[in-house]
Amino acid sequence: MSAKILLINGPNLNLLGTREPELYGGASLADIEEQVKAYFEESGMTCLCFQSNHEGAIIDFIQAEGPSAEHAIINAGALTHTSIGLRDAISGVRLRFIELHISNVYAREPFRHHSYLSDVAEGVIAGLGPQGYLTAAAHIAALLGE
Ligand code: DQA
Repeated sequence: MSAKILLINGPNLNLLGTREPELYGGASLADIEEQVKAYFEESGMTCLCFQSNHEGAIIDFIQAEGPSAEHAIINAGALTHTSIGLRDAISGVRLRFIELHISNVYAREPFRHHSYLSDVAEGVIAGLGPQGYLTAAAHIAALLGE
């Protein structure tokens, strides 16, 4: 069976394309999901995409899909900086993941400098724009060697 990868986006990332394009770029979430899905499929993997503005819905998704997934790309949006529950869900199902931020959170407000996810992530990508998602996908494809 081909490896299953999760692409998870948190609050407000459904607005990509129109939301502060100077920070987050012009690509819509649908564009990004399509590109990442296509990349994984070309590499012989499957990719399940999920976005929610609700912390509990993301936790439910991780509990349901995490145990059978090999890896994940997670842009938790603002939940990165606030959610112990999200961190516990990821750790609870032992989901390997890359923490992703489109913007360089370290060059922004101090409240964005702390992440509840970074120390349990395999790696962190921040500031590469929407391209960061494909960089994360390339890393996972190389890692899983498919
Ligand atoms: C973000 C950075 C977060 O601080 C912010 O709350 C977001 C998006 C990023 O992709 O740069 O919603 O995760």
